[in-house]
Amino acid sequence: MTQDEMKQAVARAAIDYVVPGEIIGVGTGSTANFFIDELGKIKDSIKGAVASSEATAERLRAHGIAVFDLNDIDALSVYIDGADEITPQGAMIKGGGAALTREKIVASVARQFVCIADGSKLVDLLGNFPLPVEVIPMAQAVVARRLTALGGQPRLRIRDGKPLVTDNGCYIIDVLGLKIQHPAELEAQINDIVGVVTVGLFARRGADIGLLGTAEGVRRLTF
Ligand code: 5RP
Repeated sequence: MTQDEMKQAVARAAIDYVVPGEIIGVGTGSTANFFIDELGKIKDSIKGAVASSEATAERLRAHGIAVFDLNDIDALSVYIDGADEITPQGAMIKGGGAALTREKIVASVARQFVCIADGSKLVDLLGNFPLPVEVIPMAQAVVARRLTALGGQPRLRIRDGKPLVTDNGCYIIDVLGLKIQHPAELEAQINDIVGVVTVGLFARRGADIGLLGTAEGVRRLTF
């Protein structure tokens, strides 16, 4: 089974968590894209979706799925998204697709977070994947110094020779070299740095369910 086939398998499995007649929170990335394609097949059974990025909103609309503004929603039954790393406790690193802030906002109003990923994303210790941190552009240098003091090696994310600009008009710093023993504590510590918009650690509100693609099929974890 290829990595994409595993992603497709978990995307299909995630449809079981979609509540008919409701609005679904939808994440960003290649696995989330497979999920959107599955959601398109049952679009008449849901009211619509809240998107965690402009790219996701565009793909949802291309499938004829109504996209709602989060400001018009009180709560969501479920948020379904991928991850860059996930622990057996359901803590995650996210933000490889630069959508971490909107992902964290949409996830925060969902009763259930279903993480869909290929099995290679399951790790005992977070930090091998560089930790994304979204920052206000003018604070990039000072935040980078604070992240260095925490033991990381910050790198401004560059695309096409320029700093990548997120959907929120901000920059991303990727922090290498962290071995994250206490994800919830580090999440709070980095979020407290002035100039940080969001850190891509999802530990204080981690996943509730993990659907992981393996060669033997979809492995379901409950956290
Ligand atoms: C985007 C994310 C994604 O969920 C994460 O990067 C995983 O992506 P993929 O499904 O492409 O492996 O956090 O900001």
